[in-house]
Amino acid sequence: MSAARSNGRSDRSRQPAALVIFGITGDLAHRKLVPALYQLVLAGQLPADTYILGVGRREWSDETLRNEMGKAVAEFARSQPLDAGALADLQARMHYVYADFAEKPGYGRLQAKLDELGAQNRLYYLATPPNVYETIISNLGAAGLAQHEAGWTRIIVEKPYGHDLASAQELEAMIHTVFDEEQIYRIDHYLGKETVQNILFFRFANGIFEPLWNRRYVNCVQITVAETIGVDGRAAYFDSAGVIRDIVQNHALQLLTLTAMEAPVAFNADAVRDEKVKVLRALRPLTGEEALHNTLRAQYAAGQQDGQAVDAYLEHEGVAKHSQTETFLAMRVAIDNWRWAGVPFFIRSGKHLAQRVTEIAIQYRQVPLALFGAHNMAGDAPNRLVLNLQPDEGITLTFGAKVPGPENTLKSVKMDFSYAEAFGSSTPEAYERLLLDCLHGDATLFTRSDEVLEAWKFVDGVLQAWQSQPARKLPQYAPGSWGPKEHHKFIEAHGHAWREMLTPPG
Ligand code: BG6
Repeated sequence: MSAARSNGRSDRSRQPAALVIFGITGDLAHRKLVPALYQLVLAGQLPADTYILGVGRREWSDETLRNEMGKAVAEFARSQPLDAGALADLQARMHYVYADFAEKPGYGRLQAKLDELGAQNRLYYLATPPNVYETIISNLGAAGLAQHEAGWTRIIVEKPYGHDLASAQELEAMIHTVFDEEQIYRIDHYLGKETVQNILFFRFANGIFEPLWNRRYVNCVQITVAETIGVDGRAAYFDSAGVIRDIVQNHALQLLTLTAMEAPVAFNADAVRDEKVKVLRALRPLTGEEALHNTLRAQYAAGQQDGQAVDAYLEHEGVAKHSQTETFLAMRVAIDNWRWAGVPFFIRSGKHLAQRVTEIAIQYRQVPLALFGAHNMAGDAPNRLVLNLQPDEGITLTFGAKVPGPENTLKSVKMDFSYAEAFGSSTPEAYERLLLDCLHGDATLFTRSDEVLEAWKFVDGVLQAWQSQPARKLPQYAPGSWGPKEHHKFIEAHGHAWREMLTPPG
């Protein structure tokens, strides 16, 4: 066995840095970033002189920042009860910089603080609404904060990364006037999830699955990103996005590329991303009639879920009266390459569905001959490999076994692997891993410029086809169901059936 070139993960250098969070007073910082930093401090993974500079538009002092962030950690940290020492350590590293993002003085104050702390390495995190990305980036450039001779400078950009292909291209062009590609870390938090990273380990560290991972054996692949939550509190944003921008352009296409890609020549940022980009380039464009035929959109109606009343999507404040924005989307995607020609990839995702589940189901072909009678073919006991990414993280292989007794009857049985059983239940949050990787300069789990643009190119075709259609009321579905009734007809028309989840489809 020969070893491929690796990214030298085990000897990652631990250089101190200043992590500058723009939008520290916002939701993302409270719920995700600061609790993740707490976990890193708790695990001893942040070098002593690594600082956190919160930049925001409220007139806070260091004290206010430390108190507010303490509350955020108490509420959202993964490890409970809190470790007072670790929290105090985290708080002591925090400083507040007041800045109106559009005005120069704030950047001067930031510069002064960085100098005062002697921070040579700088990591900027754009945790703000996307409409201020360009303002912040250009001001960082103008203030001379985008490069620093004495150390490295990097920037993390949150999603949404553009609204369509044209705006993503504009953002790309703009950001590249200030930062080099090696400095830019585009976040897709799905890539930080342990189970998502495991797709590559499962495929490429084991000899037995890869030979079965192609058109010769696979009948179809179903990627499900189902959520039970709705769009409460962010309806206005969601109405301008829909499932296609919110989930498909990023998370679902990432899952698809990791499932479909060829083995990279090494496990490093460029080699892995080269292979992912090839998958995106091989996606058959969905435009015009093809896009309409291969997608199904719907919205949730009013109803009940888990005993709670749910307002119809169209009734939410912030949603346009005749909104055409989908809260449910099913699509059939084709990958035109040698490995996957003829194998449909079905994606379905939605809000207020029956169950929270993210999974990739690889469905295998039937046996060539019905030895035990047509009834006992794989239709009743299909061979299926399911990678359950959340919430019951694990991998299940389903196959048929003979039911003991005189009849030749086949029953579906399972071989199960559970993360919780094998490794315990406390897995790191995506943001812990992603922040650490960025501090270490490892971009493998971040999306590259060409990757983001290829994904937008594909999605843009669909968006344009939808926009060319006369406005109509989208199909509606009951909250707590698996989507609109048309959802079954949609996949049946393509000669397949959705894999049934635990709760019977509605
Ligand atoms: C975000 C979307 O990117 O991902 C949300 O904006 C969605 O709408 C969320 O709820 C899902 O992430 P997770 O980690 O809960 O699966």
